[in-house]
This record gives sequence, structure tokens and C-alpha cells, in this order.
Amino acid sequence: MLRKTTLITGGAGFIGSHTALTLINAGQQVLVLDNLSNSCRESITRLEQLTHTRVEFIEGDVRNQKLLDDIFSHFDIDAVVHFASLKSVEQSVRNPLDYYANNVAGTLNLCRSMARAKVFNLVFSSSATVYGDPARTPILEDLGTGKPTNPYGRTKLMIEELLTDLATSDPRWSIALLRYFNPIGAHESGMIGEDPTGKPSNLLPCLTQVAIGRIPELTVYGSDYPTVDGTCVRDYIHVVDLADGHLKALQALRDSSGVNVWNLGTGVGYSVLQMIRNFEAVTGITIPFQFAPRRAGDIAQCWADASKAGRELGWAAERDLERMIVDSWRWQSHNPLGYRSSPVPQFAHK
Ligand code: NAD
Ligand code: WQD
Repeated sequence: MLRKTTLITGGAGFIGSHTALTLINAGQQVLVLDNLSNSCRESITRLEQLTHTRVEFIEGDVRNQKLLDDIFSHFDIDAVVHFASLKSVEQSVRNPLDYYANNVAGTLNLCRSMARAKVFNLVFSSSATVYGDPARTPILEDLGTGKPTNPYGRTKLMIEELLTDLATSDPRWSIALLRYFNPIGAHESGMIGEDPTGKPSNLLPCLTQVAIGRIPELTVYGSDYPTVDGTCVRDYIHVVDLADGHLKALQALRDSSGVNVWNLGTGVGYSVLQMIRNFEAVTGITIPFQFAPRRAGDIAQCWADASKAGRELGWAAERDLERMIVDSWRWQSHNPLGYRSSPVPQFAHK
């Protein structure tokens, strides 16, 4: 019997490629749709090398309604994992219309085509950013959403609300809102990982690019936060654990309806200075850094209470910070220029 297909929008990107790998390894049939605006075809080639299968890939945009309708009519899709999104906080402040058009309108299109094709299972990539500046940590889902501090974050909150309205209007919808904390790490093979275009803004890519010599020194934004050492505290989570959360959410969706919200984090927070010290200890590389003023929009600290995902999905993050750093560094050091590095490395992989 033919297996049903899971459509993965944005599946050539950082989290999407790791999730595609996890789903394929779990025996699922996947179809990746990506416009390659922040990724490249090479990530799909590497997925094929890792899985020894052909990965169905369509280069295209979720804002293209006709393309989406064609995809749903040609493939036997029963669920969608929706990663496709612009994600730079900084650029969203400069170009808010691009962010609302791509993220919000793209999701609207996707939902229209899904409804027409009677596909009602959807996993959405949300973010801890929807909590805004949280009144307390750890953050539980029932804290309620707050005020995101930038247009990117507001697109995530708007989409959560749009999807909630949709599920209220029609009980056939089964939607998971997965609120990620700070995803880092890479697959242990070192063949797929995070490959930001241009200068990275997230901490881990900045750290690994300083270590590899692409950036001369790390800038630490703020030293006077009310935290353990004055620098911001975040809940970093291994991208492979995150991918596993998508597999479990997909399984849960098929047996439920309505909207379910799950935090995906480890429950442990690390400050920026602790991240630098841990990175140095794990890799043996000294990271030159200097302090700069606080970065606009940063909150002092945030980490998850992910016990709801534990109870309801049987999911918990398994990989510790050392593992996250080892895997991030393997990816970066084997691929100094990301996917543009050549030749394609051939790593031993269990
Ligand atoms: P990414 O940029 O690596 O992946 C997103 C992918 O979507 C890219 O491959 C890009 O080319 C594609 N894309 C963008 N717009 C598209 C469109 N209109 N049509 C088709 N494809 C399109 O980002 P990521 O880190 O893998 O993030 C995946 C999702 O998780 C995003 O929705 C992001 O907002 C969300 N998220 C990320 C983080 C994080 O820190 N990485 C945290 C919380 C939530
Ligand atoms: C972490 C800490 C920085 C870079 C962002 C988005 C959020 C989500 C994840 C998608 C902060 C500090 C960073 C540097 C530094 N994305 N830092 N020097 O800001 O928690 O979350 O990415 O949904 O929406 O806002 O992550 O990795 O950018 O920063 O000192 O060069 O590292 O100030 O305290 P953040 P981050």
C-alpha cells in the first residue's frame, strides 16, 4: 500500500532538514517544498546521502496558491509541517511588509489549499518569542502570549491566532503550535546544519564563525541584565531533539482535533558568558569577545517548562549542552563555508 505523504514547507532549511531526516528515518514519506530563499539545494542532496533514498523536492513558494493546489492534487498528503518563513529579527524591523507577506500571507495560502484538499493536520513552527517578555520563568504554555518585541515575532503570534480561529471554525482541523526555544546543534554526521546567509545574528552561528575565523571576535550584547552574570539567559535545545518533537506531534495530531500548544525546550537556561566558557571547554578554542550595549528587543532571560510535551507527547530533550556544542562545531569545522564548502565531505555515519 502507498504511504501517505507529509508535506514539509521550508524543509531545505535548518530545522526543516533535520525534521525531514527524522521523519524519513521513522519510515515516513516526505515531500519538501522550499523556495531556497534562505537555504540551498545541497541540503537535500545531503539528506539523500544520509538516508540512501530519493527525497522528493519541489523548488517553489508557499505564496503561490496555484502551485500549492497542484501539489495537493498530485500527492497523497495527509499532514503538513510548516517551517517556511523569514526569520531574521533585524530584517523584520527594516522590512516588515516582507515578513507579513511571506509569513502570514504564506500561511493563509497554505491553509486555503489544505482545506480545499481536505488535509487538516498541521504542525506549525512557532517560537518562544510569542511570550514577549515573560512575567515568570520557567515558561509554561498557560502563561498566555505576551507582546513580541519585533515584527518577526508578531507574525508568529498572528499566525497562532489565525490558526486558532481556523480550528474554531471547523472541527476537522488538528493543529500543533510548537513553541521552540533556542535551537542549536546539528546532525551528528556533520553533513547537515545551520547555514545562515550573510552575517549571522544568532549566538551559536556567531560563536562557531569566530572559532573558524570568519568573524574576528564575538560581540556580547549587554553586561548589566539582572541575571546570574549580567548577560542574557536562554534555553538552548538540540535541533535533533526538536525534530523528534515534530515526529511526536505529528503522531498526536492524527488522533486529536483542535489546537494544541507545546513548548519545546530543555528547561535549562545558560547565559551568554556560560555559553562562551562551555564552547571553549568543549572545543579547546579561545573565543575573543567584547561587550557592547544591550541589543534592542532582547529580554533578560527565558527558559521553558516543557513538561506538557512530556506528558502529552512522551517527548523530552535528551541531548545536553556539551552534545549541542560538539555537533555545532563538527558541522561548522567540516563545512567552513556551510553548504557552499566543497568537496562534499564523506563522514562515517552510524
Ligand atoms: P531557515 O531559514 O533555515 O528555514 C526556513 C526555510 O523556509 C528556508 O529554507 C527558506 O528558504 C524557506 N522559505 C522561506 N520563505 C519561504 C516561502 N515563502 N516559500 C517556501 N519556502 C520558504 O530557518 P529555521 O531556523 O530552520 O526555522 C524554521 C522555522 O522555525 C521558521 O518558521 C522559524 O521562524 C521557526 N523558528 C526558528 C527558530 C530558530 O531560532 N531557528 C526559533 C523559533 C522558531
Ligand atoms: C541569544 C543571546 C543575544 C549574538 C532569536 C529570536 C527568536 C528565535 C531565536 C526564531 C541573546 C546574545 C547573540 C551575538 C550576543 N528565532 N548574542 N552576541 O535573541 O534569544 O532569539 O532567535 O523564532 O525569535 O529573537 O537568540 O541567538 O539571537 O541570542 O551576545 O553575536 O545571545 O543578545 O542574549 P534570541 P540569539
